[in-house]
Amino acid sequence: MPGFSTRAIRAASRAPAVSQAPVNVPIYQTSTFEVGSAQELAELLEFTRPGHSYSRYSNPTHQALEDALAELEGAEAGHITASGMAAVHAVVLSTLRSGEELIVPQAVYGGMVGLANAVLERSGITTRAVDTTRTELVAEAIGDRTRLIWLETISNPTTAMADIAAIVEIAHRHDVVVAVDNTFASPYLCNPLALGADLVVHSTTKYIGGHSDITGGAVLGSAARVGAARKIVINVGGNAAPLEAFLALRGLKTLALRMERHSSNALAVARALQDAPGVDRVRYPSLPSHPQHALAQGTLRGGMAGGMLAVELSGGRQAGERFLDRLQVAVHATSLGSAETLCSHPASSSHRQLSTEELAQAGLTPGMVRVSIGLEDPDDLVADLVAAASPIGS
Ligand SMILES: Cc1ncc(COP(=O)(O)O)c(C=O)c1O
Repeated sequence: MPGFSTRAIRAASRAPAVSQAPVNVPIYQTSTFEVGSAQELAELLEFTRPGHSYSRYSNPTHQALEDALAELEGAEAGHITASGMAAVHAVVLSTLRSGEELIVPQAVYGGMVGLANAVLERSGITTRAVDTTRTELVAEAIGDRTRLIWLETISNPTTAMADIAAIVEIAHRHDVVVAVDNTFASPYLCNPLALGADLVVHSTTKYIGGHSDITGGAVLGSAARVGAARKIVINVGGNAAPLEAFLALRGLKTLALRMERHSSNALAVARALQDAPGVDRVRYPSLPSHPQHALAQGTLRGGMAGGMLAVELSGGRQAGERFLDRLQVAVHATSLGSAETLCSHPASSSHRQLSTEELAQAGLTPGMVRVSIGLEDPDDLVADLVAAASPIGS
């Protein structure tokens, strides 16, 4: 008779056989999987045999999310990661080598600027910032060393949009890969692969998770490109976690409903704020005043633009800080895409890596606040945000 610990460990490791499929994907909270032979393990580690060996390589809960996201983005394959930045890093490093160049939008998420400065530069990869809202400037910027053009469906935080299909056409003529960060739109509002893009990236931390309770990322595209990105993720350890994958799967089930409510709430707030005292300008793609309004109408499902607004306050940095202090319903916090309305000040948070000149180049003003409109009642949001924007003494 084996000792107690031996029996306890064996007894507690027996996974039940279940003949009825669970309605939800189980959380496979295990780092490793028992194999039948050394040959089997070798084949699993090389992905030449279906199955799982070690959760840094793959895991059934991860696979369920990868398959679901691939289906919703119209991709052949997907790979999920520990964060959106791990997915961005994997795409960039699997596409570019030392000596090659990456084109990014001038108005790009600050994390990309951080990646370029802290990591890519050390790897000998150069980054060129271009106003990607002007397709002709992207065409001019493509050189012999350009391998990848990075776009965001809707830019963080300015909400600028590039003509993905037109840029893809030019890029492919030069054998340049196009990757699109689709975090702000989510797969419900836009499928960049259908516009010709080669790869799509998500921070699942945002709309896909939807509740500010996970961090995660995803890469979607052809099996070959996703396989190359997966190789980077496995080797640097940027892998996802089963609980986070489970929560992202749960989020996907209500993504469409949430995106519709985010979009209608955001439009109500944008309309109210554009006429409110203390506000210079509201940038939201569904407003006719947005520079890419027509493009948004043609690119995003039903002309809906999600929950992200950029609000330029008249009083500069001070007004931006006061806005955040006055909030009663919305929460002053970084991140976006959740049930709660979240407000932040990009100049001091997501874009803090940028110098004053880089901020201006990215279309940011010191008084700009970024608002991630949540799922609350629209009247409460309008009242809260209009009051927070009002000039001192009013
Ligand atoms: C557009 C966009 N892409 C990528 C990221 C990075 O995602 P994560 O924070 O999950 O690494 C963010 C985060 O704010 C983002 O807004």
